[in-house]
Amino acid sequence: MVESPVLFILSLCILYANALDNGLALTPPMGWLHWERFRCETDCRQFPFDCISEELFKAMADKMASDGYLDAGYEYLIMDDCWLAMERDSEGRLQPDPDRFPSGIKALADYVHAKGLKFGIYEDYGTKTCAGYPGSLNNLEIDAQTFAEWGVDYLKFDGCNVTPDESMEAGHLEMAGYLNETGREIVFSCEFPLYRGNKANYSVAIEACNLWRNYNDIEDSWISVTNIVNHYKQNGDKYVTVAGPGHWNDPDMLIIGNFGLSLDQSKAQMTIWSIWAAPLIMSVDLRTIKGEFKAILLNKHAIKINQDALGIQGHLQTTIDNIDVWVKPVLPTVGGEFSYAVGFVSNRDDGYPFRLEFALRDFGLNNSAGYVLTDAFVSDETTQVKSDDTLEVFVNPTGAVLWHLVANEEKNH
Ligand code: GLA
Repeated sequence: MVESPVLFILSLCILYANALDNGLALTPPMGWLHWERFRCETDCRQFPFDCISEELFKAMADKMASDGYLDAGYEYLIMDDCWLAMERDSEGRLQPDPDRFPSGIKALADYVHAKGLKFGIYEDYGTKTCAGYPGSLNNLEIDAQTFAEWGVDYLKFDGCNVTPDESMEAGHLEMAGYLNETGREIVFSCEFPLYRGNKANYSVAIEACNLWRNYNDIEDSWISVTNIVNHYKQNGDKYVTVAGPGHWNDPDMLIIGNFGLSLDQSKAQMTIWSIWAAPLIMSVDLRTIKGEFKAILLNKHAIKINQDALGIQGHLQTTIDNIDVWVKPVLPTVGGEFSYAVGFVSNRDDGYPFRLEFALRDFGLNNSAGYVLTDAFVSDETTQVKSDDTLEVFVNPTGAVLWHLVANEEKNH
């Protein structure tokens, strides 16, 4: 448990003196990425609605701008693998598949920018991308320049087909340098910690990258979400200390609104990702998403917790009766106390909402003047609670309850 907000913030400043200095992603990036939902479908004859093409990204940009996502903070529209042609052009530059991106990437980026959004793209440090398209190896500088000329605002940089994998840290520092030299503000999203595993150098990740993946790809199932959560539980101490403004752990995309998660499981993913200060990158068909899932993605309390300016990644405080209690310190601080988000996430599947009784003090929330409580997925109503009050929550099987607790000022009378 963090003792003093001032000391904690000071120690973060010292720890991150070498962080990537592009001034970007001071809160976790929010956006949309095609990979989990749309994968590498390149057959536009048979699947015109779903194939990886400029039409798909224009349609998603329209929806992000018109349906409240941009207003809620989801600003990056990011293209993943499978956009490239199989060959570079005669000058050695990357080029998109001509059939699926006939207008070119610059025109697509212009379209996205005109909607008030930012535009992201994918490449790979190795000889080929994970799906087998041309990689950036030996072309880092020209690729950084090309992206900047096209108006790219975010680069997801993968780590397939790299040998030896020890070269990744140096390679990513080099690429970060080329991106900075372009003079364009480009968020740098890395994957090398995932590929390097226990050998990953997180000082380099902090220095080179704004965010980084450290575990396997998310897939469309609750099992996949729980695998990621378990990995973060096992590595919690390490991951919590490396995250902060400008440099985030990325547990991968939100899969809310697709085929694999129930409503309760969707609330659980949103709760955990918010508490973790994880990038909120949706991967869902925004043309067909159902309203109740959209409401979870747009939940303003969860987003506020996620986007808190302190940028502290929440930790697992305790597990009671198979309900995980996650705690994240947030602003405002009052006297010597933080405000908090507390997430109750059920690993239970025994078929009824589980009642948990506790006092906030059990979780280290000690503000003597108490807190203003909002139950994020229930309503905007607030109630006053004290550290020693006996409180209860009912957590649905594989579901979650997310509380936002704003510390009250001490009254002087
Ligand atoms: C890797 C990444 C994924 C996605 C695919 C694309 O598996 O981890 O997020 O980018 O490559 O091929």
